[in-house]
Amino acid sequence: MRQQIKQGRNARRRFLRDLTRFGAAATAGTLLALPAWAQGARIRLGLMLPYSGTYAQLGTAIENGLRMALDEGRGRLGGREVEFFKVDDESEPSKATDNANRLITRDKVDVLIGSVHSGVAMGMLKVARESGTLMIIPNAGADAATGPLCTANVFRTSFSNWQPVHPLGRVMFEKGHRKAVFITWKYAAGEESLTSFKEGFTAAGGTVVKELFLPFPNVEFQALLTEIASIKPDAVACFFAGGGAVKFVKDYAAAGLKDKIPLYGSGFLTEGVLAAQGDAAEGLMTTLHYADSLDTPRNKAFRNAYAKMFKAEPDVYAVQGYDTGLLLRQALDRVGGDIGNRKAVVAAMESAVIDSPRGQWKMSKAHNPVQDIYLRRVEKGDNKVIGVAWKALEDPARGCKLG
Ligand code: BEZ
Repeated sequence: MRQQIKQGRNARRRFLRDLTRFGAAATAGTLLALPAWAQGARIRLGLMLPYSGTYAQLGTAIENGLRMALDEGRGRLGGREVEFFKVDDESEPSKATDNANRLITRDKVDVLIGSVHSGVAMGMLKVARESGTLMIIPNAGADAATGPLCTANVFRTSFSNWQPVHPLGRVMFEKGHRKAVFITWKYAAGEESLTSFKEGFTAAGGTVVKELFLPFPNVEFQALLTEIASIKPDAVACFFAGGGAVKFVKDYAAAGLKDKIPLYGSGFLTEGVLAAQGDAAEGLMTTLHYADSLDTPRNKAFRNAYAKMFKAEPDVYAVQGYDTGLLLRQALDRVGGDIGNRKAVVAAMESAVIDSPRGQWKMSKAHNPVQDIYLRRVEKGDNKVIGVAWKALEDPARGCKLG
């Protein structure tokens, strides 16, 4: 799918501005000698996001957030108009490298942006590393992307899978839970969330007594819920997101477990899905780098503007898309739109300070946000912040040699 946006002034004004910037005395001949960026060619953004399947809503929220940030910058990056090239990645890792290669070779994108699913992001990362294309990950938490496979041209504006759940083990231990079951989908995001949770819970003194998996994006939870009931742990922790999170939370309550065995999760469990989960979600506690109810003027302004623009409530995915736009704006304004000046663009992204609705954050040396992780509880259909579970949490970036 291909979509163009022209959000700037008319071509004549652009032409005159470029003449001014690169020397008012430029003749038609010298203008032809200018590089494409200096002639005001559009910046080409390649979006690889899920627009179908269990993560479809997440992909749309990311794109909305990104468009909103660009809109606030009058639709320009470093003075240049923007053109979008979109692919529905279907959260299907086996198609990721072909899709990414197509965006680079056919559509000649300047930046690859994606994806939601860790497996898809790993395929994109492979292509970005081989081709040297600038890539921004607006969700997928695959630890390796800002760990052993970190690289100068790849940045993340969201989180590593290690980050949101790392404080959860300590939180649950402090609430008196000693034996926990962890349940999730069997793919990188679920497995890495489990590893991180186990690290934190074990360090606090707890034990993960059982690890339960089902294939992504399967939602046949019944047999595993029966197993949880028979194990009778003190609590259950989980990673689920999108449509799967709706079904899991409802099935957990319908199985009669909600009032017997407290359910916790990384905050994706209740992001963007509270209306669909209804009463089944009330009281659930989660940890995440954002919460709707963050009581800051920045968050309130963002939420109002988003609701006005899209007639929908924003969630963490919208925030991550928005921050992707802020990062691009900041970096390209700094280099005057010269996206080909890779060294300068990377340096600008590395030193960016993002004034995000989630709170201000900066990039770690491994190109991943250093950010606060909030403890939230669902109250009357809202993710209410009840504290900061971990201040300025930085992913350990094990194996990353950057910086
Ligand atoms: C992931 O695959 O990395 C992921 C997907 C949805 C929410 C959070 C992480």
